[in-house]
Amino acid sequence: MWNKALLVLGLATLVRGSVIDLSIPSAGDLVTEIGSLLHPIPSVLSYQEDYLDPSTGYKRKLCTLHALGSEQDDADNFVKAVEKCGDGGIVRLPDANYTIGRPLDISLTNSVLDLHGWLSFSTDIPYWIENRIPLQFQNQSLAFIIRGHDYVLEGNDKGGIDGNGQAWYNYAKDYGNKFGRPMSLAIKDSKNVIIKNFSIIQPQFWASLIWGSENVYIKDFYVNATSFNPEAASDQKNWLQNTDGSDTYQSHNVTYENFVYQGGDDCLALKPNSTLITVRNATCLGGTGIAFGSIAQYAGIKDVIEDVYMSDIRLYPSDQCPGYQGVYFKSWLGYSLGQPPNGGGGGYGYAKNITVEDVYMEDIWHPLVVQSDLTYLELNREKYADSGLFEWTDIHLKNFTGNALYNRVAWMSCSKLTPCHDWTFEDIDIKPGKKDHPEISYTCNNFVLGGKDGLNQCHPSNSTLETDNGGTL
Ligand SMILES: *[C@@H]1O[C@H](CO)[C@@H](O)[C@H](O)[C@H]1NC(C)=O
Ligand SMILES: *[C@@H]1O[C@H](CO)[C@@H](O)[C@H](O)[C@H]1NC(C)=O
Ligand SMILES: *[C@@H]1O[C@H](CO)[C@@H](O)[C@H](O)[C@H]1NC(C)=O
Ligand SMILES: *[C@@H]1O[C@H](CO)[C@@H](O)[C@H](O)[C@H]1NC(C)=O
Ligand SMILES: *[C@@H]1O[C@H](CO)[C@@H](O)[C@H](O)[C@H]1NC(C)=O
Ligand SMILES: *[C@@H]1O[C@H](CO)[C@@H](O)[C@H](O)[C@H]1NC(C)=O
Ligand SMILES: *[C@@H]1O[C@H](CO)[C@@H](O)[C@H](O)[C@H]1NC(C)=O
Ligand SMILES: *[C@@H]1O[C@H](CO)[C@@H](O)[C@H](O)[C@H]1NC(C)=O
Ligand SMILES: *[C@@H]1O[C@H](CO)[C@@H](O)[C@H](O)[C@H]1NC(C)=O
Ligand SMILES: *[C@@H]1O[C@H](CO)[C@@H](O)[C@H](O)[C@H]1NC(C)=O
Repeated sequence: MWNKALLVLGLATLVRGSVIDLSIPSAGDLVTEIGSLLHPIPSVLSYQEDYLDPSTGYKRKLCTLHALGSEQDDADNFVKAVEKCGDGGIVRLPDANYTIGRPLDISLTNSVLDLHGWLSFSTDIPYWIENRIPLQFQNQSLAFIIRGHDYVLEGNDKGGIDGNGQAWYNYAKDYGNKFGRPMSLAIKDSKNVIIKNFSIIQPQFWASLIWGSENVYIKDFYVNATSFNPEAASDQKNWLQNTDGSDTYQSHNVTYENFVYQGGDDCLALKPNSTLITVRNATCLGGTGIAFGSIAQYAGIKDVIEDVYMSDIRLYPSDQCPGYQGVYFKSWLGYSLGQPPNGGGGGYGYAKNITVEDVYMEDIWHPLVVQSDLTYLELNREKYADSGLFEWTDIHLKNFTGNALYNRVAWMSCSKLTPCHDWTFEDIDIKPGKKDHPEISYTCNNFVLGGKDGLNQCHPSNSTLETDNGGTL
């Protein structure tokens, strides 16, 4: 809506302003100027037209945004800075802490988001649930979306996102996938993205999601979800469930290099339609390890995981969360029971051309798992075992060392309808932590094992000893 008084006043200001020349402005200039009058540049935002960017040697726009301080919401100013410099420029946030009090959906093209401190998300839980950005997949929620192409998220080794997740960990301690908990960062519909020296601490839910994107290179990335609630220490429950480090979904060509995760859920998870995913040098402390899936949760929908290479992976428990799984292949049962996120199933598809090598693990409950009847609902599992329709094939595991915490080293149960085939195991040398039930150390159900696959000791077993998945709904 045009406000005439503002417009007249605005033109007068334009003429008086020293930056504006007095020649007759074009219609386009007028619209731009009026636009910036209606959305004035805040005093905490400074703008430089021809900043010489030392990293490229070119001149480009630079917006420098300071924090308002005292926990005042910086979200509107941040969006203004992005609107001014997020196409072709640099958006620089030099201060230590910026408060983000509302969901953000921003676009960056040919630009750099240069964070020297934290985007610190507010913790008004009812507000965030009410104002969630919905993600249809698993009925999940997002706090912050970045779209675009050819952009860099630079955390400068000292900044990124502080999800202030403690409030959420307290809120959701008893329930997995509690509705409305938002993911800290979603890279959405993006192409040619570099994320570097970037951290996400205390994520509200999954720390990061790469969704509908391609050519994403994530180097020197750090995620840490820790519960500081003293109750957590003496509690058997996993207070950190759903604090995944990074998930890929409908994305192609995503590379993680030098990744450190501490938390209580998937360190990395490859969700439906993750292709050409590369991981080099990842350390995971606590949680459910490197997950392929969950997948095939939606009846009648085809899901794919393909062309994956991972190497140099280390997995440990943390001082507040066990290492439940090491490398974990998890697909939903073949029936559709209940609604996602905790129910569902009946999807199909395949995972193939996956290589995981040079993995070291320490004290992991279940180092190597294939689960093909996944559901988070309480139901009679036996009835639905062997129903899964998703196919795990052409998977190559090489040079795994370390130890399991208990008897189980490999616990692999594929579906009778889609047996696992064309897997190879080379130099799998994980010592069981206990030897009182050697019959469950290497169990493989519905597995086509060839002569050279290196897990000759693997055999079918329906034993339910040590099958507790542990704390992560
Ligand atoms: C940022 O500020 C908020 C509010 O004061 C605080 O809760 C949070 O811990 C700070 N984050 C960092 C990383 O200092
Ligand atoms: C998502 O979950 C909320 C809360 O449980 C529920 O009200 C809503 O119907 C769900 N939506 C879908 C599509 O399942
Ligand atoms: C991250 O920061 C460190 C130390 O400042 C630096 O050595 C390293 O090259 C940076 N990584 C990237 C990908 O820029
Ligand atoms: C994958 O993305 C990288 C940039 O991260 C790019 O250099 C490479 O060419 C891409 N590969 C393919 C096959 O698209
Ligand atoms: C994660 O944060 C906790 C609490 O600050 C800290 O004790 C722990 O060392 C951190 N983990 C890593 C891997 O940096
Ligand atoms: C692996 O990642 C860790 C953590 O980022 C880093 O300290 C280490 O230098 C990396 N190793 C290699 C060989 O790059
Ligand atoms: C995954 O890709 C297949 C094509 O390979 C497509 O049919 C399916 O709808 C996609 N599924 C999802 C969840 O995107
Ligand atoms: C398997 O995946 C790798 C990437 O991890 C890729 O380079 C290779 O071409 C793929 N192989 C086939 C047969 O598609
Ligand atoms: C096996 O992996 C470990 C790291 O877990 C590595 O140090 C070692 O060099 C690898 N061995 C071979 C033969 O590549
Ligand atoms: C477990 O398998 C054995 C044979 O391998 C069979 O006799 C037994 O009935 C099975 N038990 C259940 C609960 O399926």
